[in-house]
Amino acid sequence: MSVKKVVATVVVVVVFVFSFLAYEQVAKLAPFYKQLTQPRVSLEKNLQPKKQLDAYYVGSQKCKKCHEEKFSQWSHSRHPKMIQEIRKDSNVVVADFSKLPKDADFTLKDAVYTIGGKFKQRYMIPAEINGTKDYRLGNYQWNVQTGKWQHFKPWKYWYKDAYPHDNMEFPTSKTCDGCHFTGYMAKEKRVEPGIACEACHGPGSEHVADPESKVFLASLADPVRQNEVCLQCHMRNRDYRLKKHTIRELYGDARDYPLGYEPGKALADYKLPAPFLPGHETKEFYANGMGKKNRTQGNEYVHSMMAKHGITCINCHNPHTLEPTAQHNSGNALCMKCHSFGSLIGPHQKSLEAHTHHKASSKGSLCVECHMPKVGRHTGKSPLTVRSHMFGFVTPAQTLAYGMPKETNACFACHKDKSMKALQADLEKWGMVDWDKRHFWKEKK
Ligand code: HEC
Ligand code: HEC
Ligand code: HEC
Ligand code: HEC
Ligand code: HEC
Ligand code: HEC
Ligand code: HEC
Ligand code: HEC
Repeated sequence: MSVKKVVATVVVVVVFVFSFLAYEQVAKLAPFYKQLTQPRVSLEKNLQPKKQLDAYYVGSQKCKKCHEEKFSQWSHSRHPKMIQEIRKDSNVVVADFSKLPKDADFTLKDAVYTIGGKFKQRYMIPAEINGTKDYRLGNYQWNVQTGKWQHFKPWKYWYKDAYPHDNMEFPTSKTCDGCHFTGYMAKEKRVEPGIACEACHGPGSEHVADPESKVFLASLADPVRQNEVCLQCHMRNRDYRLKKHTIRELYGDARDYPLGYEPGKALADYKLPAPFLPGHETKEFYANGMGKKNRTQGNEYVHSMMAKHGITCINCHNPHTLEPTAQHNSGNALCMKCHSFGSLIGPHQKSLEAHTHHKASSKGSLCVECHMPKVGRHTGKSPLTVRSHMFGFVTPAQTLAYGMPKETNACFACHKDKSMKALQADLEKWGMVDWDKRHFWKEKK
């Protein structure tokens, strides 16, 4: 063999080995290649299939016969259980009404619907508000996590300047129902209680009549537009009209949901996200953008590197079963679907133990414990259970610098016997504090 040929062979082999190694670095992302490289369409474009434009909402029962499997997956999830009719099944009430405080402005008999029931349960009571048939909220809610009744006066913090300071005059139609009943957000009709098929696929009348006529399928849209289908609800908002109007001008009509939105339409035309400026703490967010309350997944996730690179809610959550949840979670396998040790996208260390500095079998080696710390509460009196969707790691020093309670720090949450300083020292010893330099947030001075 000539020298030239040997050199050429070596070069080919080297290139092959390197490209193989390079491929191995990102191989796990290959199934997502199309999604991640899809050209972004504008935030203003309506992506609804043409025939859906004139369709109306028909309810999930109509979808059942042709989509048994999806229907069954969905019916076991929490989405259809958000609003439940007490008359149909009294078991939906999780509260102990025998302990309802004396100054409650409702009884079980008055309540028509339950709202929620996993973390807290609230009650909808028929009421006439401003001459219109509507629902009001009982002045007590059941805290499932503490097993206690506690006050519920939403007007105290919820569009305080837009509604009378009285539960009796606080209509669920404008403040809640858009996200909890299917059809209400788009058409102001309670077509179906809970979050049903058409809340994510849009109105289905045309499709039911002729399956060739499509409904919206979020996974066909680019990642940003794909997430909108979840963000219509999983987000803290402001009424869109506040762009041009004052809250007083919206008195009695301010909405906490994107009125008029249907899946596929441009969400940016219907909602304003709750305001947030990096470095500034608000009632809803800490200075690093982490949510203090529930329903901040969308507000947080848009700041994450994963969101920026095109990873979406449904890359982790099955949209019909909703898994993973706190109860049904495949653990590190979910994250390792895309991540691998020593890979380009991280973790950079060669093994689990080298990355976490905990035994592989330890709780301290679970990705979510460090990357999705519990930073939010369902109510002021609830335990810290709402996991962050920012995914970045917050060091003990950053937790303190942002003025966050130390309980929200991942390390401290498990090591309450240690000081924040000692935990920071552990991290520094491990050489795991580079985050500061790469992290997108500026330190608060
Ligand atoms: C009469 C049977 C039938 C009914 C009723 C029906 N579908 Fe379908 N659906 C189909 C068929 C068949 C397809 C596959 C069509 C195709 O691939 O072109 C489909 C496809 C879909 C898709 C995928 C669309 C895509 O772009 O690939 C979604 C989402 C969907 N249906 C949702 C629904 C919803 C929501 C309802 C209830 C409002 C419903 N379907 C009712 C038969 C039905
Ligand atoms: C919370 C939002 C949400 C709800 C509620 C929902 N879906 Fe879906 N559905 C989605 C998303 C997002 C996808 C795309 C998933 C993917 O392609 O990975 C999807 C996909 C589908 C598909 C296409 C599956 C495929 O593999 O092509 C069908 C059919 C469907 N859904 C029917 C239904 C029916 C019927 C219901 C009600 C019983 C329902 N969906 C409820 C969000 C939802
Ligand atoms: C129309 C409003 C709405 C839409 C759209 C919506 N959600 Fe939800 N979601 C809710 C509400 C309300 C709950 C709380 C249900 C309960 O606890 O009863 C919830 C609960 C959940 C849960 C927790 C389930 C559990 O068992 O605790 C997950 C996960 C979730 N949603 C993911 C998604 C994803 C992913 C999408 C988009 C594909 C989505 N949701 C779209 C309103 C919505
Ligand atoms: C913009 C959409 C939206 C609006 C408006 C909204 N919610 Fe929700 N709500 C959600 C979502 C999404 C969840 C589940 C996610 C979470 O809790 O983190 C939720 C969760 C809840 C839960 C907890 C459910 C459980 O099983 O524990 C209750 C109770 C609740 N909401 C009541 C209300 C009431 C009462 C109002 C009106 C005053 C309201 N919500 C307005 C979207 C909304
Ligand atoms: C990188 C993966 C990932 C992405 C992306 C993601 N989630 Fe999650 N999410 C999780 C995991 C894991 C949990 C459960 C954590 C636990 O409690 O064990 C969770 C929990 C939740 C919960 C609470 C469930 C419960 O049990 O209370 C809601 C609601 C939720 N996610 C909504 C969303 C929404 C909406 C998006 C998109 C804006 C999103 N998630 C994006 C991984 C993800
Ligand atoms: C569908 C694929 C996918 C899944 C599933 C996934 N990731 Fe990621 N993740 C990515 C990509 C792509 C990046 C961007 C890499 C980069 O920017 O270098 C990333 C980045 C990250 C980062 C770095 C963020 C930063 O700010 O630099 C962290 C931390 C992370 N992921 C944690 C997780 C955790 C924890 C889970 C499981 C709950 C998870 N990921 C699940 C694809 C995924
Ligand atoms: C004991 C806490 C802890 C656990 C558990 C943990 N991480 Fe990390 N992770 C960190 C810290 C701290 C950093 C920041 C490292 C730095 O700044 O040098 C980090 C950084 C990352 C990064 C950014 C890239 C890098 O290597 O710096 C990714 C991606 C990541 N982790 C993914 C994961 C995944 C996936 C899991 C589960 C298999 C996991 N982590 C488990 C603490 C943890
Ligand atoms: C989910 C709980 C959990 C989290 C989060 C966690 N740890 Fe641990 N940690 C443990 C447990 C349990 C042990 C016992 C030994 C083992 O399992 O590895 C331990 C052991 C340790 C040890 C060695 C023994 C000791 O106490 O000196 C150090 C140091 C440590 N952790 C520091 C940290 C730091 C720093 C963080 C944040 C990056 C952290 N841990 C996050 C649960 C956790």
